[in-house]
Amino acid sequence: MPLSALSTATDDDFPARLRRVAGLVEARLDDLLPKPQGHQSVIFEAARYAALGGGKRLRPFLVVETARMLNGPLDQALSVGCALECLHVYSLVHDDLPCMDDDDLRRGKPTVHRAYDEAIAVLAGDALLTRSFGILGDVDLDAAIRVKLVTELAASGGMSGMIGGQVVDITVAEGERDEALITELQAMKTGALIDYAVRAGGYVAGASEAQLAALSSYARDMGLAFQIQDDILDVTGDAETVGKAVGKDADLGKATFVSILGLDGARDRAKALGERAKNSLEPWDKAAQTLRDTVDFVLERKH
Ligand code: IPE
Ligand code: IPE
Ligand code: MG
Ligand code: MG
Ligand code: MG
Repeated sequence: MPLSALSTATDDDFPARLRRVAGLVEARLDDLLPKPQGHQSVIFEAARYAALGGGKRLRPFLVVETARMLNGPLDQALSVGCALECLHVYSLVHDDLPCMDDDDLRRGKPTVHRAYDEAIAVLAGDALLTRSFGILGDVDLDAAIRVKLVTELAASGGMSGMIGGQVVDITVAEGERDEALITELQAMKTGALIDYAVRAGGYVAGASEAQLAALSSYARDMGLAFQIQDDILDVTGDAETVGKAVGKDADLGKATFVSILGLDGARDRAKALGERAKNSLEPWDKAAQTLRDTVDFVLERKH
């Protein structure tokens, strides 16, 4: 797919636009992840197996579409989105390990520790994590912006972000998980990388502090709605459509918004968060239509 597809992507309806950016993400990741070579070729294979050929690519989509809204350079946004996707995929590979959620299916394929083995899955996750920072270091942007992108990704993926959320998710017992704790853990586990996605799009485009704050408000509410929908699909979805096992949260004793508020209550909450997320986009009026449509996609998604 030619890169010009990035700039013409605004004419399509939302699903077509998401597909089109996902196609570009796939092609760019194929370029950015080294081809297997040497005695260690299995690690290149496993990293590519994990990262290529699946996923909604929502986080890179958000980077690209935020940059587009702010008239930023889309080619650079695509690479930044791929760096974030590598970090996200690493989090999925490790999340699926027997010592974590112990899952056999991811994105409709055997998980990495199933297709290879546990040691290779740990190392493939590590490889994708380190590669994500390498990609950011190489993007054709001012050094000051690259440093910002690197330090914020380290924070968003780290102990006060995604990793922190994962730790709370696996260590806090079911009975101690009230609404406030679940909100906090999901903001870290899922929200932090979604917040990073829109802020990164903002950095690429030279956004002001006020713009970054509005983007973060949008992302925090949309990210929580996104995770509530993940928890709803864990109860209502089927593995074939969702592309991963369902019924896991109850099995693992993980209280979620669904177990606390019920299915209807969780749906209402996600909808209210979605409305608030859209309101945060007011400064951009019509230019924010894609980010508004993303909220509807997140609320209606079936996988
Ligand atoms: C799954 O993320 C893990 C969560 C944070 C809920 P996605 O639903 O974005 O998974 P992919 O990338 O599309 O496979
Ligand atoms: C994990 O949350 C989110 C990550 C940071 C990887 P889940 O455990 O609910 O994600 P799924 O349902 O396995 O994708
Ligand atoms: Mg998990
Ligand atoms: Mg899981
Ligand atoms: Mg889940």
